Amino acid sequence: MLPNDKWIVDEFCCPAIISPDAKNGGLIIFEKDGSITNIKIDVVFPVLHGKNGEDGTIQGLFQLANIPFVGCDSLSSAASMDKGYTNMVADYLGVPQAKWVATKKFSYNKNPDKFIQNTVEYLGFPIFVKPANAGSSVGITKATDIDSLRKAIDIAFEHDNKVVFEENIDGFEVECAVLGNDELFASVVGGITPCNEFYDYEAKYISGTSELSIPAKLPEDKLAEVQKEAKRIFDGLGCSGISRVDFFVRKSDYKVMFNEINTIPGFTSISMYPKMMEASGISYPDLLDKALTLAIEKWSK
Ligand SMILES: Nc1ncnc2c1ncn2[C@@H]1O[C@H](COP(=O)(O)OP(=O)(O)O)[C@@H](O)[C@H]1O
Ligand SMILES: [Mg+2]
Repeated sequence: MLPNDKWIVDEFCCPAIISPDAKNGGLIIFEKDGSITNIKIDVVFPVLHGKNGEDGTIQGLFQLANIPFVGCDSLSSAASMDKGYTNMVADYLGVPQAKWVATKKFSYNKNPDKFIQNTVEYLGFPIFVKPANAGSSVGITKATDIDSLRKAIDIAFEHDNKVVFEENIDGFEVECAVLGNDELFASVVGGITPCNEFYDYEAKYISGTSELSIPAKLPEDKLAEVQKEAKRIFDGLGCSGISRVDFFVRKSDYKVMFNEINTIPGFTSISMYPKMMEASGISYPDLLDKALTLAIEKWSK
């Protein structure tokens, strides 16, 4: 906090809210003199990650308030945030992915030993254990034996009531940026080589030594397949505007396998989404322009 933050807050800041009443369509500001000002908002670009930011919650508020916003609507944001749900949709679409199971805490607690036995039989070690709704690799563990699996489950349940288990895919990690509402554009595919055993929180945000390559160093036909599957996932989940869809290309047979989708991907000028778009001929300013235009188009229908 800056030394004069308190002063700034006291002197110039007033409470403001977004009212869910569509008549206002913007910010309601409670001025110091007791009056109320309503500022109409043309369009919002949500740059929030995780709970309440990309899980459809704030998107629902914008929808109620009739404020156009960039990215996925409430339903597709919520569906894309939940790894159990996205895995179900990928299965339904026939997009290949890791074998997986999911459980809620209540069911797991009924008979943890039986659940663990069945899961290990089905998936084999190592097993990726993930909170269904988290992101940034928070709460994710690669379990290698029964002991670490038990611990991993406890950790994952600290973050969500639902946990997803996946077989380990020994693959190249690739990402594709998708842009559009109805007509979709899939970017050049980028590759990530995590500096740790997997792309965990430390590798993503702290060490900074993971390697990025755009385009990913993989055969052309595999990159084209990633682009095609990225659009199918985006469309199948009902996404709009922007999303980044992540895959593995399995090392043993180069099979393209869906991992997850991010409806509010990192969006700084050095993040993968803008970099992949840049490599596809869409500059950062143009990308911002397109994202805002798509939002206005979608919500002015
Ligand atoms: N089934 C899997 N097999 C191998 N590695 C995985 C698997 N699932 C996740 N990972 C690794 O864990 C990282 C984080 O998992 P991910 O599902 O992308 O969660 P998040 O939403 O937190 O980014 C991935 O980038 C990858 O390195
Ligand atoms: Mg991820």
